[in-house]
Amino acid sequence: MTEDTYYKDHWVEIEPDRLDRYEQQFVWGARGNRLLEPADIQAGQDVADYGCGPGYLSVELARWVGEGGHVHAFDINADFVERTQARVAAEGFADRVGVTHLQGDMLPLEDNSLDRLVIKNVMVYVDDPLASLHEFRRVVKPGGKVHAIDSDFYMAAFDPIAPLDWRSVLDAGIHAFRTPAIGRKLYGLALAAGFTDVEVEVIAAPDTSGRMFIFLQNMAGYAREGGRHDEEVVQRVLDVAAKAVEDGTFFALNPQFLVTATV
Ligand SMILES: C[S@@+](CC[C@H](N)C(=O)[O-])C[C@H]1O[C@@H](n2cnc3c(N)ncnc32)[C@H](O)[C@@H]1O
Repeated sequence: MTEDTYYKDHWVEIEPDRLDRYEQQFVWGARGNRLLEPADIQAGQDVADYGCGPGYLSVELARWVGEGGHVHAFDINADFVERTQARVAAEGFADRVGVTHLQGDMLPLEDNSLDRLVIKNVMVYVDDPLASLHEFRRVVKPGGKVHAIDSDFYMAAFDPIAPLDWRSVLDAGIHAFRTPAIGRKLYGLALAAGFTDVEVEVIAAPDTSGRMFIFLQNMAGYAREGGRHDEEVVQRVLDVAAKAVEDGTFFALNPQFLVTATV
């Protein structure tokens, strides 16, 4: 892996313990439905799940589109492709979800073939967000929607972790993201890509359960991998977070930007 393309390479090859952490981190909950609602997904639609990860969202989309609909799930990681296939099969949706191992940034789909394309926590990693939005616009029908959900890591906040400690870990691990401030940029990018109507909503739901501790563990890994970190600070962030999760005082806020762009 090179520093220049680490933001992508660390998804093509994922260490086993991080792969397992994602099984917990991306579990679908009631909060997930709020993130999906602006996409206005209807029964019978053709929907893509770009960067499907372990497949929880693909299963949910299969539920929303119903028997007459279809979900096209894509990911660049081979393990996630297998896990998504297994998960949709276990839920009884194998006939309405196709899972494809993506090799590049172009989608193996015809022009104007989708009603909706959902991309959740993936725009932050793509090589060229504007080019991806152009590609999504190509495959979505006129009147259809691209619904992007993403973070803006400079806006994430944790307590009782000292703000400068978190910032130090973020800076040391920043090479794990292509566009770490993607959340605030999505609106302008969608306009630049020529979408006719672009709606933005921000959902900031505090996490007091410790789910975001998984994200902090991944950030510590990225920082250590880069080798420009202060080990004392990285360990302090992990220790403070772990103790707070244990004693029930952990608090994290990672606002999610929901950008729904109509073709
Ligand atoms: C943070 S996970 C989100 C997974 C899923 N969308 C969810 O929210 O549960 C990011 C996912 O995007 C995939 N990914 C990263 N870069 C990608 C790219 N350029 N094209 C397609 N998928 C990509 C990763 O393999 C990973 O599955």
